[in-house]
This record gives sequence, structure tokens and C-alpha cells, in this order.
Amino acid sequence: MSVENSALPAGARPAARYDEETRARLAADAALVVARYPQPRSALLPLLHLVQSEDGFVSPAGIAFCAETLDLTAAEVSAVATFYSQYKRRPNGEYTVGVCTNTLCAIMGGDAIWEELSEHLDLGNDETTADGKVTIERIECNAACDYAPVVMVNWEFLDNQTPQSAVETVDKLRAGEPVASTRGPGKICSFKQVSRVLAGFPDGLADEGPSGGPETERGTQLAAAEGWTAPAFPGDAAKPDATKPAATKPAAAKGATSPEVGGPQSSAERKPTSAKDSSAEDQQKKQSSDQAKES
Ligand code: FES
Repeated sequence: MSVENSALPAGARPAARYDEETRARLAADAALVVARYPQPRSALLPLLHLVQSEDGFVSPAGIAFCAETLDLTAAEVSAVATFYSQYKRRPNGEYTVGVCTNTLCAIMGGDAIWEELSEHLDLGNDETTADGKVTIERIECNAACDYAPVVMVNWEFLDNQTPQSAVETVDKLRAGEPVASTRGPGKICSFKQVSRVLAGFPDGLADEGPSGGPETERGTQLAAAEGWTAPAFPGDAAKPDATKPAATKPAAAKGATSPEVGGPQSSAERKPTSAKDSSAEDQQKKQSSDQAKES
């Protein structure tokens, strides 16, 4: 049985350690995650998601588990867990409803959506409904400005929202009705389920729904039609001057394939362009050196 922090009576403190059965199950999962990294401590971020998938937040038991698994102190784990807003410090709702109030979404209606939701649920930022279903929070840009204003439910997109549509969404979530992402799965998963995916255990839904649409591709299509290309890298004389109209259509418009490794427009194995710059080879040498010092 896991630590049921969301069901704790008022004032009760969550357990500081998992029971043996839960610990053994999490340890088996953690071993798979840790094996993906050259150094165990590098697995801390996914392990924090793993304990969130168990408890619905980063609980004291979760912090102790991560610390013991990765040979870190509880203070080191807490320092990381409190830095990122995706890690919750108290029991989270089954659905995190994030309203983008970054500049573009805000002026396109994000601020109005936030006001409406906040008033409808009588909640402030990072607060949860009494039934434990919905947590609302203001979020920063989710790189979905082409569909502004955007609302995220457990980090799945709901595009082109209105105050009314956002209210309908939270009412459905609280009623236990399925809510579909506009560019994702047909049924948005719970916070714990999504946390497990973020820990590195796929649920097979990643390819459900479209990832982009006409709005996403509009800039690329316009550039191709107008013959526009990206600015050249410093020292790359082969690239055209982006400040002047291109004489011909860009290579992509003629059906060219991806740039070759090490060639123009390829970032892999790019030669350093300044003393402060470093190549992939240099970075690999530095990483090997760092690892040698630590071992
Ligand atoms: S400003 Fe909202 S997604 Fe970019």
C-alpha cells in the first residue's frame, strides 16, 4: 500500500518512509531509470517524477527514497525538487490546469481565462479544489503561441481557448468526464499517470492526436514561398546574406535532404567559432575528465 497523502486527515503529516512493499516496487522502477545514466545522480529528475506518480507530489517519503537511491542528502534532493515548478510540494489535484499568462497568450485572452477560472473555482495560483480534482496555476509560455491562448491539462494542449471553454473543461474534469487534448491523447491522463510517463515509462499515447497544424507550419510555408532563409552562422561564408532577398528558392523548397553532419546548418560536430566555444569532441573530453575526477 502506498502513502496516501491526499487522503490524510487535516493536520496529519505524511509518512517519512515508504512501507516495504511500496519501496520494493519503486526500487525496481528506479533501477531501470538509473541504468540510463552514466552517473546515478543524473537520474534525480525522473525519479522525482516517479515518486510523484506514487504520491501525487514530492512527499517526504519520496525525498528520502530519492536520496537513498542516488546516494544524495535529503537537502540536495529537496533543493532540486523546490527549484522546478513541475514538482509539487503538497498533494496536487488529479488534473493540473495551467493557464498560459505569458505575454502573447495573455493579450489573446489568457488573462481573461485565468480570471474566469479563478473566480469559478474560487482558487488562487497553485491551489486545489476541495474534491482534490483540479489544481490551477499560471504557467509560462509553452511554445504553443501559434494556438494562443493556450490552456494545459497535465501538460497536454488545449488550443485556442476561451473563458467559457476553460470553465467547461474544469467542470468536466471534476465530474469525471473525459477531456480530449486538441493535439494529444483522446483522453487526458491523471497527474499520477502523466508523472509516470515523465519518469520514463511510456503509456503508448505519445503519438495520439496531431502534434502540429496549419498554424504551426505557416511560417515555414511562407519562408519557402518567399525564398527566405535563416541567418548564416558566424564565419559561414557559404550561407546567403539574410538581410538581402535570396536570388533563388531555398534548398528545402527544391526537395533537399537534411544537412550533413559537420556541414552548413548542422550543429553536430560543429567546429568552434571562438575561444569560448567548444566542439562536441571537447565537451566529451571534458565530461570524461569530470567523471574521472569524481570516481
Ligand atoms: S505565450 Fe502562451 S504558449 Fe507562448
